[in-house]
This record gives sequence, C-alpha cells and structure tokens, in this order.
Amino acid sequence: MQDKQRSLAGKMAIVTGAASGIGAGIARLLAAHGCRVVIADVDKVEGRRIAEEFDGNGYFCHLDVTSEDSWLALMSEVNRHWGAVDILVNNAGIGSAESIEEVSLDVWHQILAVNTTGVFLGCRCAIQSMKNSGGGSIINISSALGLRPLSSTPAYGASKAAVVNLTKTTALQCAEKGYQIRCNAINPGFIMTPLLENAMAAAEDPDALLKGYSDLHPMGCVGSIDDVAQAALFLAGDESQFITGIALPVDGGMTI
Ligand SMILES: NC(=O)c1ccc[n+]([C@@H]2O[C@H](COP(=O)([O-])OP(=O)(O)OC[C@H]3O[C@@H](n4cnc5c(N)ncnc54)[C@H](O)[C@@H]3O)[C@@H](O)[C@H]2O)c1
Repeated sequence: MQDKQRSLAGKMAIVTGAASGIGAGIARLLAAHGCRVVIADVDKVEGRRIAEEFDGNGYFCHLDVTSEDSWLALMSEVNRHWGAVDILVNNAGIGSAESIEEVSLDVWHQILAVNTTGVFLGCRCAIQSMKNSGGGSIINISSALGLRPLSSTPAYGASKAAVVNLTKTTALQCAEKGYQIRCNAINPGFIMTPLLENAMAAAEDPDALLKGYSDLHPMGCVGSIDDVAQAALFLAGDESQFITGIALPVDGGMTI
C-alpha cells in the first residue's frame, strides 16, 4: 500500500450504485486500500457478486436511494454489522437523453428522484451517523453535464447541477457546525462504462459513436472508470482533509 492512502485502512465506506460501472470501480479501489465496503444497490445479483470479490471486507445491502425508509434500514443494518460509517459515496444514478420538448414529466420525476433526492437522503443519513462518530467524508458523483449542459439532457443536467449546489450547502452546514464532515462532488465527463460499451456494441458505426463522445473532451478521449475512482480515493482520505464543497471535474477539459 502506498503511504498516501494509509489513512483509509480500516475505514468503512458505503458506495451506492456499486453493482456496476463507476460505483463498482470506486468500491474496488477503496477495498484495495484497506476499506471495508458496503455495496448498496437495487441490483441484488450483481451487488452480491461484487461484494464477494472483497472476501470479508465487502457487504451487500439492498438500497433504493429514492426511499427514506430504505436509507434508514441500510444505516441501521450497516451500523449493526460494521459500526460507524466513515465514507459515503453517493454514486447511484440514471440517465436520459431527451430534449426539453421530448422528455415526459414521469421521466423528469424519475431522474430527479434517483439523481438528486437520492443524494439528498444519503447526505442527511450520513451526517446523522458521522456527526456522532468523529466525522467522515461524503462524495457525490455529479457530472460534467451538471456544469456544462447539452440540449439533449435537460433532466439529467438539472439533476446533476442540483447535486453540485447540494454538495456545497452540505459542506457549509457541516463546517459551520464543526462536525468534521467534508462533502465534495466529482463531475466526470463521458466515461467508458458498460453503458457506453453496450451503446458501441449496438451502434452501426461504433468508431464514429466513440469519436463523437471523445470530441466533446478537449483531451480528445473519454475517461476511464479508474480516472473517477482515483479522484474519489483522494477525496475519501485525509490527504484531502482541507478540501470541502468542491465540484471536481474529471473530464479531459470538457468544462473549461
Ligand atoms: N458513465 C458516464 O459516462 C458518467 C459520466 C458522468 C457521471 N456519471 C454518473 O456516475 C454514476 C454512475 O454511472 P455509471 O455509468 O457507472 O452507471 P451504471 O448504470 O453502470 O450504474 C448505476 C448503478 O446504480 C444503480 N441504481 C440505479 N437506480 C438506483 C436506485 N434507485 N437505488 C440504488 N441504486 C440504483 C444501478 O443498479 C447500477 O448498479 C451516476 O450517478 C452517473 O450519472 C456517469
């Protein structure tokens, strides 16, 4: 283990949406640096499979981030099983690519429920737990599209812009109260996840599709899951102890 990540050994992290993609990558990296990791997801099959990768240091808990009851059940199960939470990564999210003229009200509500209300409930539960146990780090996965919108993603972009603001108000509240809880957001550009891989597999011209996404980033490529996971690792540990309330782009220059 490298020196700079020693502060994470023995810490307990909850990662929402960790049954797939970026969340699974973050969970794997935190576990590789000595954390016990709770995989919290609606997907029981994949969630359990990821948790088993970490031997005794992974634990699957069902969580629907949109439900306060589900959050309260998760926190009480996790506290019983492993004690106090040190790190919460609010990563679960869903997308939609329909313009404001196309998107239905139902889809709008669904996107906001998972991407924004889910993060709100997570931050509230984490504060409740962490303020009584010496503090912690909350990391909210927003998106570059929450900082620099595209016309095709009004619901998704609004939900992720709200996460940036919620991150700042959470950070301020915790700092003003002296809770020793930091709260930061990460704003990834387009990342090569199963979603993008599947879209490429289904496309008539996968290379053209990838080029289209890559061209949105001045660095000329999409990011990797590890690019986002490394940023989360930094924000989780004491190496970032004086950083709170930021929205960190991990986006190859997309939001410059
Ligand atoms: N992939 C990208 O290019 C990209 C870019 C910027 C931001 N993001 C954000 O990163 C996060 C992860 O994205 P991904 O591409 O890895 O997605 P993914 O679809 O691979 O994984 C999302 C996970 O969230 C879970 N989930 C969905 N609804 C849930 C709910 N109500 N409660 C609990 N879990 C739920 C799913 O079961 C899944 O395991 C999302 O918040 C997404 O908006 C992704």
